[in-house]
Amino acid sequence: MILRPLTVRVPGDKSIAHRTLMIAALAPGQSMIDGLPEAADVRSTASALTELGVHIEWQEGTGRAEVMPPSEWPDRPVILNCGNSGTSARLLSGLVAGLGLSARIDGDDSLRSRPMDRVVYPLQAMGARITYAENSDRLPIIIEARASGNLRVLRYRGRVSSAQVKSALVLAALGAGVEFEMWDPGQSRDHTERLLEHLGVQMSFGPEGKGAHLKLEAAGRAGMRPLNARIPGDPSSAAFLLGASLLRGRAITVDGLLLNSTRTGFLDVLEQMGAEVEIDIRDEWAGEPVGSVSIIPGPLSGVRIEEDQIPGLVDEIPLIAVLAARARGDTRISGAGELRLKESDRLSALAENLEAIGGSVEEKSDGLFISGNPDLVPRGFVRTHGDHRIAMAFGAMSVVPESEIEVDDPDCVFVSFPNFWEACAAVGQST
Ligand code: S3P
Repeated sequence: MILRPLTVRVPGDKSIAHRTLMIAALAPGQSMIDGLPEAADVRSTASALTELGVHIEWQEGTGRAEVMPPSEWPDRPVILNCGNSGTSARLLSGLVAGLGLSARIDGDDSLRSRPMDRVVYPLQAMGARITYAENSDRLPIIIEARASGNLRVLRYRGRVSSAQVKSALVLAALGAGVEFEMWDPGQSRDHTERLLEHLGVQMSFGPEGKGAHLKLEAAGRAGMRPLNARIPGDPSSAAFLLGASLLRGRAITVDGLLLNSTRTGFLDVLEQMGAEVEIDIRDEWAGEPVGSVSIIPGPLSGVRIEEDQIPGLVDEIPLIAVLAARARGDTRISGAGELRLKESDRLSALAENLEAIGGSVEEKSDGLFISGNPDLVPRGFVRTHGDHRIAMAFGAMSVVPESEIEVDDPDCVFVSFPNFWEACAAVGQST
């Protein structure tokens, strides 16, 4: 039987949402943002900015917010709780240091276990005074006020490819009004660069590509306008519905989706695995390409994923891993050590859970080796370790007919995709 094709939309892009809120806080006058996702991580950024005196009027249920920077930034230390959100913690560190503010930045137990040196070290090199309150390289951190003019020019070659690091430093330099140049060893997501360019900030980019080499002028912020942006759908959320459709054998279209090439590496992989993928870019919203992705399922085959591909699909590895478990042949993922530093140790969580649901997997120091079985009927208990992307990857598997997947903490999807389970059930229907 041919299943009815679906057309869906997904919540606004989480990475862009954090950035629009923070950049609006630096822009002169009132900004308007549309399409904010009701995601707990984005709420963490909004409440931290509110602590800093930014006025955010987020109209309940609409995804629309007006953002107005304070007439004066606080001169007392503030406490910023970033919950589970690494992007909030890292980017806000840059923002606070650049504006010369004082803050204690903290998060939940998962966030407290993730490295902070990657942003703290270059911020210190710019002259920011930052100390670790408890354990080195970990939250909570204490940032002490300095006159923002005190931050120094930095030319920085990142050690890991990370958009969070790059964006934290750009926000610091922008707030402080100092020149900044950075090389990212990969092509990490370039949303900060695009948004700032869209707002008239003086930036240039090297021949390595926008995500890999940028230069911000000291007077960068001078020409900045308030933001009027609409946030497109999050490809990292869409990935789980596209993957579920492949597992169910149902055609699907996701509309209003962000189609920035630093984020769509997983679509190339789905195609390589045997899906028919059609990408239709129709629009540009605040400097970002937007359109639809349609997928027609086909039999899946194993695939090889190497280190240089990781930045472009870093958040989609969990989904690729579950597809690989149901593909013909083997899949090898390497150069993915960064996955151990996400909301959970994702390599270990994937290995543990693939085994639990009947898959065959070998965990490597920097990746996974998965022996696929197209007839696998996934059955078992999934331990998410509180990680939304682990929950959604195995959630996607629950659309396989006859599967029996139980997830220990289904609510952890709230940090990025609150209505994931309803959306996934629609893909799993039998009509
Ligand atoms: C993000 C960057 C990525 C990604 C994270 C969101 C961002 O992290 O995994 O979910 O919004 O900048 P890294 O920059 O640490 O690779």
